[in-house]
Amino acid sequence: MLIKKIVLPSDDNRWKLINATMKRHGYQPNSLIETLHTVQETFGYLDEVSLKFVAFALKVPLSSVYGVATFYNFFNLKPQGKHSCVVCLGTACYIKGTNEIAERIKQEYKLQMGKTTEDGQLSLLSARCLGACGIAPAVVIDGEVHGNITTEQTIDTLRSLTNDN
Ligand code: FES
Repeated sequence: MLIKKIVLPSDDNRWKLINATMKRHGYQPNSLIETLHTVQETFGYLDEVSLKFVAFALKVPLSSVYGVATFYNFFNLKPQGKHSCVVCLGTACYIKGTNEIAERIKQEYKLQMGKTTEDGQLSLLSARCLGACGIAPAVVIDGEVHGNITTEQTIDTLRSLTNDN
């Protein structure tokens, strides 16, 4: 059987976690839902890059991947907000205080997990592991992983983003 070479979209460790799920299932198309769960647990949501990557690796038409991603309401498509913050609530991060970070963001922006502020400035999401446990606690702000971050640093970064524009 011809084995297709899987090229990860970037050197972000999160892609390795997603690839590991697909590999564990022999890149079988019927691992689509489980793979999308891993994407969401890793990135906090499903965006176009991840959906295309999964479609290619599992040899499933992109339209079918979109179909599954939009059919089940437990999948979040790319957040609506201009800015996004994904807080890792995996064990390594949780014990180092990411729950407190998440609570502060909720208070500061009067926001629920998985939601976007009314002004559309910020979406708050959670992940179960970003593949960056060595730098826990970690959050992802506008796609960039920030490790060893404190609650204050997170809030300051978000304020500067959401106040600027
Ligand atoms: S638990 Fe947060 S990066 Fe792994």
